[in-house]
Amino acid sequence: MRRLMLFVTLFLFLVSYAQKPNVYILATGGTIAGVGESSVNTSYKAGEVAISSLLDAVPQVKDVANVVGEQVVRIGSQDMDDSTWLLLSKRINELLNSDEADAVVVTHGTDTMEETAFFLSLTTRSNKPVVLVGAMRPSTALSADGPLNLYNAVVTAASPDSRDRGVLVVMNGSIYAASDVIKMHTTHVDAFRSANGAAVGYVNNDKAVYSYPAVETAASLLFFDVSKLTSLPAVGIIYGHAGVRGNVVQSMIDNGYKGIVYAGVGNGNIHRDIFPVLEEARREGIIVVRSSRVPSGPTMLDNEVDDAHYRFVASQLLTPQKSRILLQLALTKTDDWIRIQDYFNIFR
Ligand code: SIN
Repeated sequence: MRRLMLFVTLFLFLVSYAQKPNVYILATGGTIAGVGESSVNTSYKAGEVAISSLLDAVPQVKDVANVVGEQVVRIGSQDMDDSTWLLLSKRINELLNSDEADAVVVTHGTDTMEETAFFLSLTTRSNKPVVLVGAMRPSTALSADGPLNLYNAVVTAASPDSRDRGVLVVMNGSIYAASDVIKMHTTHVDAFRSANGAAVGYVNNDKAVYSYPAVETAASLLFFDVSKLTSLPAVGIIYGHAGVRGNVVQSMIDNGYKGIVYAGVGNGNIHRDIFPVLEEARREGIIVVRSSRVPSGPTMLDNEVDDAHYRFVASQLLTPQKSRILLQLALTKTDDWIRIQDYFNIFR
């Protein structure tokens, strides 16, 4: 009788295992893995808790998917860099191209999550879901948002409705598209927004609910193969402000930057003291992208600035930080500013 019970239990376990999707959780650190001095103090150290402990804290994810945790790096996302992006992207492509994984979740600090999400949306290719998630409060805080966010991310990744939607970010119950998501608050748990539209969906209890069917996302029209790359071209951002001085651009020219994104004011407008230095950068073959420090709305081509005359690229709806990533990847293929403008035109 005991043997029969054991056999039935094992059989039911195997049936339930086979029915659930396999979700890989790649951990990179951030506040979601942060440890604070006390449960009521918001000061903490990011990236301290290993993925195995994070998963132990949310056993409910095992009801939704067969989860496998993998620690990729353990950093605060302010320290994110090109080599970690390349590592992540290669590992995700490997998993998505295998039968091992039906979806991937990346746990990440919130500070640069929108950048990593955008980078991955341009460098991974699959219709399987890839979901980034973080937390605004460390795991030790009374108000820790990590466990529910992680659960929601696994629910989203495991949902068949999340296929063909590109890379997604799940935070505070909302699901955002990688190209449009932006961190809009430094400390609140409801910190993320869509800069030019709305969240693409939300997580309601244990379901990912989308506001509209999967459509071809802007990022899905572009794919940059980074499988053979070990580094990316140097591209920097100059922040426009009243009284900005041209010598801040000069240092990028002197240091061999291949691209410069100017986070201009308004519709990507450029200070008169910066203009000649950016023209000089173009003469030196450096690609110049005009973007805006205003989070929403486009930086329009040939509108307030005659881009065709100066051979500048307009960032359309991409923020300076996302423009920088697209320019880095574009420069791995071409230094033709007209072709690069075509890449940016996809985002309008
Ligand atoms: C980080 O981005 O790693 C720190 C902040 C956060 O995760 O909210």
